[in-house]
Order: sequence, then structure tokens, then C-alpha cells
Amino acid sequence: MQTVLFHHTPMAYRNSSKQKPPQHALAVQETSAERIIKAAHQHTATVWQGDFHNAKQVLAAIKKRVRRKMKAESDPATAFHKHRMAQAQQSQIINMLLVEIAGDYTVNAQRAPDVQAALNDVFGASNGESFLLPLNQLLGFIGAHEWHKKGVDIAELGDKIHVPFGVFSPIRGEYLALVAQTRLPENCQSAQDIGTGSGVLAAILAKRGVGKIIATDNNPRAIACAQQNVQRLGLSQHIQLRECDLFADECVDLIVCNPPWLPAQATSAIETALYDPKHAMLKAVLQRAHAHLQPHGELWLIMSDLAEHLGLRQKDELAHILAQNHWHIAHIAQTQASHPKAHDPNDPLAFARSQERTFLYCLQSQK
Ligand SMILES: C[S@@+](CC[C@H](N)C(=O)[O-])C[C@H]1O[C@@H](n2cnc3c(N)ncnc32)[C@H](O)[C@@H]1O
Repeated sequence: MQTVLFHHTPMAYRNSSKQKPPQHALAVQETSAERIIKAAHQHTATVWQGDFHNAKQVLAAIKKRVRRKMKAESDPATAFHKHRMAQAQQSQIINMLLVEIAGDYTVNAQRAPDVQAALNDVFGASNGESFLLPLNQLLGFIGAHEWHKKGVDIAELGDKIHVPFGVFSPIRGEYLALVAQTRLPENCQSAQDIGTGSGVLAAILAKRGVGKIIATDNNPRAIACAQQNVQRLGLSQHIQLRECDLFADECVDLIVCNPPWLPAQATSAIETALYDPKHAMLKAVLQRAHAHLQPHGELWLIMSDLAEHLGLRQKDELAHILAQNHWHIAHIAQTQASHPKAHDPNDPLAFARSQERTFLYCLQSQK
């Protein structure tokens, strides 16, 4: 548990990113964005105890001040790394506006909303101890909780998938159609879904008639989330969930894996579903999947080419990694990215996102 000196007394502090806690925190009723930013530069966080809605406005003002327009870079990889560095620096300042959460998950501020359900969703039952939390993260948890309750419509299931904070959401779901439409291997009765997240791909395979699917993830939140989705969809007799590193022991007809797509360092737990340093997970899957496939089985790998447009991977590098690990590409299905960010001209990475395509590689073992 991290602590912060709050008026010179240690107090518990929570932050869902890997940022270092501030050195000190001081309580105020109300103050301005400038003062909070100035204190932040002196490693002092501000704990807002006045009106909650005013705190939200001041937070918006802080964001406006710290978000600078970045100058265009000719090299895509430099643009990507500068963008991430700027995001990390901005978030460090933004997260210096804190609120105090009491042991019963109420916020110590006037006109604060009821956040008990949202905090239960993220942290589980309270241990009864008060703690300090960045307001920006609290607002994120409230939004995530609303999405969790509402669910994401999945056309391929004719149903919803519900995803809490901390689990990868299939909100930009163009890859789901690839898994729903690509021809299954002959007589496909069993499958493993590696890194199942919300369980969405396992559910699509079960709906397609694959009788037994083992879905794995090393994130316990993902396993709990997938378990609930599988139950809600009435697919428990077809899908088993296992919390483990990559593979379950069984040999199956089909392995599906949608690994994190970008070879870069994650800065928070949730980002580990998006960033895979040096493609380590991808490479481990490609090395180890042979041993878990039946002789005529297939490995379905879902990857976008965003890393190539960002200059983080050479154009022919993926083909090289596949060949090096003894995989033959039997078929490739592809689709254009259709999520709103792909067409947002204000996104500093729009130059890459607008060209992004998502691929489903159907791979056969050559070992
Ligand atoms: C991009 S998400 C895909 C989630 C889901 N399959 C989907 O397509 O929506 C990658 C998932 O892999 C999981 N993961 C990462 N490393 C893993 C490992 N070594 N073993 C098992 N799961 C892992 C992450 O927790 C995350 O849920």
C-alpha cells in the first residue's frame, strides 16, 4: 500500500497507473487550476474538500492547460514515443488533484456523487481505511462502472458483453467479425482462447458450434469477467476458464489468440492488454502453440498492422517471426479499422491509425 504525507501524517494513496505517489498532499476547500499545477511542480498534491462539481471544472481547466499541441514529426516512431512521453507527463500533473475516500467509499467533498458501487467494482469490498485517489481516476472508474452495467453490443453474439475496469473491452470490435466469419478447421471440436479478456472470442467460437473451449488469461479480473459473461450467455457447458500463463495442458483443434498489438512498455495494469514489450507474448505463443495443437489444427492469430504504421515493427518482421517459429500461413482475412479514433484528425497518431488494418492469420504448424 502506498502512502502520502497528508498534512505531515501518512495516509493511504491509490493510483491505477505506475506513477510515483506525490511527496505531500494538502487539503483545500477550493482553489484554481494554476495553483494546483504550481503545487504539483513542487511534488505536492491538492486534496479537494469543497464542492465536487467545481473540482470537476478545475480538473478540466488543468487538462486544458497541460495538453499542448505536439509539433509534427517526420519519423512515426519518434512521434509515437513523444506522444506517450507527453501523455505520461501530463497525466502526472493531472493526477495531482486528489479526493479523499472514506472507509465506507464515500467522497469527502460537498455534492459528491455516490461512488460506492463504482469503487466496489474496481477495488472490491472496502478494508475500512480512508485513502487519497486522483479525481481523474475516480471519474474514470465511474465511467467504467456505467459501461460495465450497460455492456457492449456484440453483433456476432446477438447479445452484450459486460466488461469492468481493468479488463480489455471489445469496444472496437472489427476483429470479432473475422473470428465469426473465417472458415473453421475441418471437424473443429475443441479450442483454446489464449488471453481471453472478457471471454468474447471463446463465446463466438461456442456460438459457432465448437463444443469445448478452454479460455485462459493471467489477469484474475479477466477470468472473473469472462466467467460472468459465459454464465450470462448460457455457454458454461462449452467454455472452461483457467487463470494461467498462456496455455492450458490440453491439445485442441484450434487455438485463437488476440495478443496486445503494440511492442512497447505498458504504464498501467490495464495497458498490459495493449502493449507487449518486444512482442514477448506473441513470440511465446508462437513457440509454444505447436505442442497444444492436434495434427490438423490451426492457430488463429489476430494482429493489426498499427505497429508498422507507427514504425515500431518492420513491414516484413511479422512474416519473419512466423516463419522462424515454423508456422505456415494457410489463409489471411483482413478488415479496415472502423473505430472513431481511426478517423479523428485531432489524434496525434491519426496518420497511423487512419491506415490501420486488422488481420486474422490462419496458421498451420510445420514442425
Ligand atoms: C488484447 S487483449 C485480448 C482480449 C480478448 N481475447 C479479446 O480479443 O477481446 C489480450 C489479453 O491477453 C491477456 N494476457 C497477456 N499476457 C498473458 C499471458 N502471459 N497469459 C495469459 N493471458 C495473457 C491479457 O490479460 C488480455 O486479457
